[in-house]
Amino acid sequence: MKNVILEILQSVSPIPLEEHALERPAYAHLGDFALPCFPFAKILRKSPAIIAEEIAASIQHPSIRKAEAVNGYVNIFLDRNGVSNDILHTIVTQGSTFGSSTEGNDGVVTIDLSSPNIAKPFSMGHLRSTVIGNSIALLLEKSGFKPVKINYIGDWGTQFGKLLTAYRKWGNEQDVRQAPIETLLKLYIQFHEEAEQDASLNDEGRAAFKALEDGDADALALWKWFKTESLKEFQRIYDLLGVEFDSYNGEAYYNDKMLPVVEELEEKGLLVESDGAQVVDLGETMPPCLIKKSDGATLYATRDLAAAIDRKNTYDFVKSIYVVGNEQSLHFTQVKHVLSKMGYAWGEEMHHVPFGLILQGGKKMSTRKGKIVLLEQVLTEAIELAQRTIEEKNPTLANQSDVAEAVGVGAILFSDLKQHRKHDIEFNLESMLQVEGETGPYIQYTNARAHSVLRKAGMVDSFEVTEVNDYEWETIKLLEQFPQVVKRATDELDPSIIAKYAVDLAQAFNSFYGNVKVLSDTTQLPYRTALIHSVTIVLTEAMRLLGMQAPQEM
Ligand code: ARG
Repeated sequence: MKNVILEILQSVSPIPLEEHALERPAYAHLGDFALPCFPFAKILRKSPAIIAEEIAASIQHPSIRKAEAVNGYVNIFLDRNGVSNDILHTIVTQGSTFGSSTEGNDGVVTIDLSSPNIAKPFSMGHLRSTVIGNSIALLLEKSGFKPVKINYIGDWGTQFGKLLTAYRKWGNEQDVRQAPIETLLKLYIQFHEEAEQDASLNDEGRAAFKALEDGDADALALWKWFKTESLKEFQRIYDLLGVEFDSYNGEAYYNDKMLPVVEELEEKGLLVESDGAQVVDLGETMPPCLIKKSDGATLYATRDLAAAIDRKNTYDFVKSIYVVGNEQSLHFTQVKHVLSKMGYAWGEEMHHVPFGLILQGGKKMSTRKGKIVLLEQVLTEAIELAQRTIEEKNPTLANQSDVAEAVGVGAILFSDLKQHRKHDIEFNLESMLQVEGETGPYIQYTNARAHSVLRKAGMVDSFEVTEVNDYEWETIKLLEQFPQVVKRATDELDPSIIAKYAVDLAQAFNSFYGNVKVLSDTTQLPYRTALIHSVTIVLTEAMRLLGMQAPQEM
């Protein structure tokens, strides 16, 4: 609608208008759209009031009921019935495809997400990456791109030499089988503690990693086993979150793909020696990018270079996204710079999508030492809390455990996604699970409430809008904006735009439903049923884009 109005105004405006020229007034008596004419006064050498009057007088369009000039603004009032009829019929006909577009032209976008490290707990940071990355993938898909979700497992690096050494010295098979990540983490911590006393352990660790890189059968077998056991634990979390991946090619996958990259860097004359290591110099503004250590071992950056090139060759992406915490910004800037020095123009299409920390009591939630927050525990706790609420408030509900899972997980997803990803977020399970306020359960509950009205009213085959009150109009205007909201969220790779929109729509619906006696007024029932049906369609779709489930009863 905004674009339509803009076009109409364009045809009568003496000067070109930009999209942001058109405002949405906060108060209904000021119209549905308003065009402030102050910026044109200088160019046209007329007062804003006169310009507004001239424009208002020349507007004529079936979608516009009236245009008023007030204090230098043109206030535009839409034809509520016509617009509502159009939009509700569109939504009911299109269903969940409402808001979809082909804008992406099937272009492939690779998304590096989740990427936990084996033998280490799945951290809050990995949760954020998983949840944000998954939502971005869903948004891209809705906008006509082909997302490819890559879980770049951290399964390579010098730390595995240390872990192998620690396991051989102090570990045993049974403990690992029973609680893989917990046991391996303990061994890793023990390694560091003992290495403080006995520095020769570090040499042993380095040698073990070298053996692993060189393909030593014994080392490889142990490493593989650690990996399998760790992945089993991660999988439980992915199942709870309902996230799937297109590829699990992690760091180890690039073990034999790095040599060609190092050679290419050498051929292009980009490698220089620094303290025995091989680096790419990146000038004054940032530290050099480390490619190879003095003992020949490769580094995180080397693997990311190989992975970036491999992804371009495999997928021919139009865009390559990395959903990784703020703290790795320098790393990704360096990788991009090296690619550009290598002459790869597509390096420009690589985007680090950073996010902030999850805090508890103002401090980073840490996975180090004693403060292990096992994410699975957090998720289980959320589900249990949801379960208890259901037992209390709706004891006869069917599928209680499914609903509890949808609500518990939805609460965590939503509290993460409702804020701009760059912000740090405070973790508080109780407040995430509130059914009031800007929470996942609030959106889910609103949708379930709408479904319950639909069950009572019954579905309609045809309807005609003949009268629209202010509550209905606010809701319909929001419904109408959904496609633009999806577009903006996709363009900005920002799921919080969808989350905020879902809150607005849920609030508008609740105030409509609280103020209008829907079921008792039979003349308006078909139209209002269509309106409520449209609300469920759009709320459900918004939740789906956030990775949340939308139970019809709760
Ligand atoms: N495994 C890394 C970590 O936990 C994140 C990997 C991010 N992706 C990448 N391509 N570097 O810190």
